[in-house]
Amino acid sequence: ASYDMGGHDTYMHKEIHEQADAVDRVLRGRIDDRFSTVHLGGLNLDAREARQIRRVKILGCGTSYHAGMIGAQMIEELARIPADAEPASEFRYRNAVVDPDTLYIAVSQSGETYDVLAAVQELKRKGARVLGVVNVVGSAIARESDGGIYVHAGPEVCVVSTKCFTNTTVAFALLALHLGRTRDLSVADGKRIIAGLRRLPEQINEILKAEDEIKELAQEFADARSMLFIGRVRGYPVAREASLKLKEVSYIHAEAYPASELKHGPLALIEPALPTVAIVPDDDLLEKNRAALEEIKARSGKILAVAHQEQEKADRTVVVPKNEDELDPILMGIPLQLLAYHTALALGRDIDKPRNLAKSVTVE
Ligand code: G6P
Repeated sequence: ASYDMGGHDTYMHKEIHEQADAVDRVLRGRIDDRFSTVHLGGLNLDAREARQIRRVKILGCGTSYHAGMIGAQMIEELARIPADAEPASEFRYRNAVVDPDTLYIAVSQSGETYDVLAAVQELKRKGARVLGVVNVVGSAIARESDGGIYVHAGPEVCVVSTKCFTNTTVAFALLALHLGRTRDLSVADGKRIIAGLRRLPEQINEILKAEDEIKELAQEFADARSMLFIGRVRGYPVAREASLKLKEVSYIHAEAYPASELKHGPLALIEPALPTVAIVPDDDLLEKNRAALEEIKARSGKILAVAHQEQEKADRTVVVPKNEDELDPILMGIPLQLLAYHTALALGRDIDKPRNLAKSVTVE
């Protein structure tokens, strides 16, 4: 691709810094203040059909799968519809039961990932309703879906996804709000979420202003052989995506775990040479997360926390701005995109084109 790098050294850096504008675009023209909901013109789903949905199943690969995990949580929280995400390829090969009351959602930046497309085609053949949450307009998955949401992140050139991930999570927040408002989400909660969505672009810019601090942290982590990422409920998919980002661009081994599962295995790994990155939002699980940090500290593990306030047990804390609890996951991974970037830079990696990876995998 020959898009202008706009003064950045890599597309990844450029795309990370485009996120406030990208989020502005996914919100633009969609908010309905009168009814505290959103308009999603491409959904092709009227209120009666929306109310008949009994379940939501979200399918994607890589980063899009992680965005789908966040989306599933938002849909459960705001619309109270049981929802989960699954890698599209797993779904496709396990001869999953296709249920007429389930809404299926295919997530893809490129709209061309073969495993996702094949899952969509299999679903359609079995009479399911499939929506696409896609970035590239007119792509195969967008065309094969019954409707959907374009995430409007703009062209993403770097192989690893950053701004498209963020916009996809925002698109899911819009969908969750929309579905919620056809059900039991109150006007007041609708207003609260809308106000939170409107704060995102400014908060993203605030996070990006801390780049120098994160660059410094990256120098400390560049010699790690392996890293652990932990989070709980809303923080868990954030940890998953941050771990993937680090692996992809820096080639440092990283593993993500639910913080609650630490004691069931990974604690055995904790020692000074294995740093842990912990996602610690100021929500109802704060105390639980603090207890996990204590467990790690007690075993001399080094901790970097991404949190809404300084964490005493952590060696370093990156403080991010607080939004509504349900929307916090959209922001908390952004400093870790920068951490992955600067770690890879310190190691001299080919950031925009990591070895062995392709931007979109259009073959099986
Ligand atoms: C490839 C890329 C990943 C991406 C995944 C899904 O593996 O390297 O960065 O997340 O495909 O791509 P999609 O275009 O479907 O979101």
